[in-house]
Amino acid sequence: MSDLFECFDFPPNRQNSDSYKWDYNLTKFGRSDIIPLWIADMDFATPKVIIKALEQRLKHPVMGYGYRTKNYIRSIQNWLLQRHQWKVPVDALSFYPPGTVSAVNNLVTLLTKEEDEIIVQTPAYPPLMSIVKHNNRILIENPLVKKNNEYEIDFLHLKKVISKKTKLLIFCSPHNPTGRVWRKEELLRLAKLCREHEITVISDEVHADLVWGETKHTHFNKLPASERPVSATIISPGKTFNLAALPQSTIICDNQRVNRLLRHNINTAHLSLDNVMSAVATQAGYEKGAEWLDLLLLYLKKNRDFIESFLQNNLPQVKLSKAQGTYLAWLDFSALEMEHSLINKLLIEQAGVGLHDGLLFGKTGKNHFRINFACSMALLQQALTQIHRAITDNRT
Ligand SMILES: Cc1ncc(COP(=O)(O)O)c(C=O)c1O
Repeated sequence: MSDLFECFDFPPNRQNSDSYKWDYNLTKFGRSDIIPLWIADMDFATPKVIIKALEQRLKHPVMGYGYRTKNYIRSIQNWLLQRHQWKVPVDALSFYPPGTVSAVNNLVTLLTKEEDEIIVQTPAYPPLMSIVKHNNRILIENPLVKKNNEYEIDFLHLKKVISKKTKLLIFCSPHNPTGRVWRKEELLRLAKLCREHEITVISDEVHADLVWGETKHTHFNKLPASERPVSATIISPGKTFNLAALPQSTIICDNQRVNRLLRHNINTAHLSLDNVMSAVATQAGYEKGAEWLDLLLLYLKKNRDFIESFLQNNLPQVKLSKAQGTYLAWLDFSALEMEHSLINKLLIEQAGVGLHDGLLFGKTGKNHFRINFACSMALLQQALTQIHRAITDNRT
């Protein structure tokens, strides 16, 4: 790789930085020398433009309550306009500083009641399912179907599982863990069905900026209001600029009832005041982070292509989901014809690689593991080589 990608080829050593991904190995996997490719943060340094903005803010020693300035709000609107050709009026924006999962959780409690049914398409990012269960709502899984390693929405099954008790669908777009970027036609079809059955859609679009394939991302709330149900799209700079430590999210919704409920709740919980460091980072990223992001997307695509060719050449039994976005991919180990628990053991004990266990992603996660490829290509190569060696040794 050229110098252009130096910051991705040679990321900082994250060990001893209180990193959940790097410093928790012993507790999670039982050994400290695991290559961790599981939880969804990137090994890459947060863009310099953001670090500089934070350093600048730290020159002022008072960390008091912040409020959202016009420039902060404009930075979000401009990002959506310039990057996604979506003009969003200010009154459609609500700010939810604890983050995306917390925003989904809040919307679920505000818009449904106990025993209501909520549909989640599986495999699914685990918190999207536990939010449903832990709030005593009924989780209805609508498993995606795989065609040539590409995951699609099963509209027939979806129609079958909808009942009078179905009030909400939690959508993940682009999709974690498969990396699918939904086409506009698919979104319109989903929107039509939900509208017919008065099912509200919460669309978790935390990965919206991480699209490196040909399909363009369409935000759910960008669909014409007349063609979709009541819906809320949630975006965040968290994945885009690797800012999980500085939680932020923005809820985009044009439904007055939802916004009234949401804002009342935000005020009650005292979330209307902002965390100044998070706000500074968000604004700097949205205002100045596009160039870095463009490079990142090239690097992510190279890493993803590298996994594909590595598997084709060395481990054709392990199937990789076709993806166009995110830095996650879904690996199907079924063709190895091994018990899930044994594959898990082999990955950890023999390969020394920490993937995300597919069983946490719903019923369809058996024999599957999620890989996070937002790391240097060299580390990815090392991990895949170790997995290859472990599987080969196990067969001989
Ligand atoms: C689909 C999805 N939603 C939400 C999150 C977490 O977002 P936040 O840290 O803003 O709660 C993740 C993190 O992996 C994710 O993949």
